[in-house]
Amino acid sequence: MKSLRCGAVCMLYGTISLAVLAANARAEDLFIDSGSLWPDNNGVHVNAHGGGVLFHQGTYFWYGEHKVAGPSGNRAQVGVHVYSSKDLKRWKDEGIALQVSDNPKSDIFKGCVLERPKVIYNRKTGKYVMWFHLELIGCGYSSARAGVAVADSPTGPFTFLHSLRPNAGTWPLNATQEVTDAKAMARFEQEHKGLMGQEFAPGEQDSNTYKTFMTHWHDEDNRLEIYRRDFSTGQFCRDMTLFVDDDATAYHLFASEENQTLHISRLSDDYLSHSGQWARVQPGGKNEAPAIFNRDGKYYLLSSGCTGWAPNEARSFVADTIFGPYEPLGNPCRGTNPQNNLGPEKTFGGQSTFVLPMPGKKDAFVAMFDEWRPKNPIDGRYYWLPIVFTENGFAMEWSDAWSPDESF
Ligand code: DGJ
Repeated sequence: MKSLRCGAVCMLYGTISLAVLAANARAEDLFIDSGSLWPDNNGVHVNAHGGGVLFHQGTYFWYGEHKVAGPSGNRAQVGVHVYSSKDLKRWKDEGIALQVSDNPKSDIFKGCVLERPKVIYNRKTGKYVMWFHLELIGCGYSSARAGVAVADSPTGPFTFLHSLRPNAGTWPLNATQEVTDAKAMARFEQEHKGLMGQEFAPGEQDSNTYKTFMTHWHDEDNRLEIYRRDFSTGQFCRDMTLFVDDDATAYHLFASEENQTLHISRLSDDYLSHSGQWARVQPGGKNEAPAIFNRDGKYYLLSSGCTGWAPNEARSFVADTIFGPYEPLGNPCRGTNPQNNLGPEKTFGGQSTFVLPMPGKKDAFVAMFDEWRPKNPIDGRYYWLPIVFTENGFAMEWSDAWSPDESF
């Protein structure tokens, strides 16, 4: 993105318009300056929050939530925005990749919550596949579903296929026999009679039935059993990412079990559904905003705690296999963001969303974060930082301005 230090900024209601920088700016003058406004080819701040980047045939495609101005801007009024770039710095607006629907019967009816979209390319089918976190309209955050859409071109249009709760009727690979045993499950159902997995309809979130249900499952003794509760109806899916491994197998990683535990699930060969092979990661660890990458056969995980739109301390983990176990490596952030004086204790004011491996370069990864601005979500900012590897793990040092060409 173009540095704005030399550019005039003008704000308009509902959109952020930037005086286009000197038209003859050279590529080498451009660098990634986290926290600034990032103008696209039209001089408008990039609108792709909670997003991820797909590198495909020489082009980067950045997909993210299109936010609008004002407090309702966190609900999906428009859809998923896509931008393209050859250098990660200059972004061309490619329009809305997935549009929300005007049909009140559609799962992605305008005004739903559609968050953290990610797109991967399936070599076998030639399709671009998008997954996102979906909350049906009027249900608060209780739907906890995953949405799937597909396209023939990276810029769309994507066609919405369906939404679901993952892995109904399958046990995690790391479940014990004590849990999966049919008799044990029957006993469990008996103990939690009337409180097993279910979805509440719009408006029911204020009901006593819903409150009883929530209180029961937030109880210390029951909290870690939520995946058993949701065995038949499917697991909760909230903050999420996608990851394609070296062998083209794809995985869906998401905050589940009422945000208590992450799940990592292998997708089917066409990437359109779950394979039924999945594992629980850090049970009870309360991680969200997951991002994952592999380096030299090790899987590294970046996440945050659960504090809504407010920043908290980032976490990092490592595993020898994709399904874990994941060992904690601590907070990977270093330094301070001078714009808000926030350091590692608050992830510089941001929250992780994706890790982009730099194509053709060894040990080169970019960690992407959002700075949320819930009162005016369209004004949310992006922090992109290069990952460095340490003796035991990885780290991201705050940088006001850096260039991928020079850093990797
Ligand atoms: C934190 C999540 O990371 C965001 O994607 C969003 O769901 C907010 N919570 C909502 O409060």
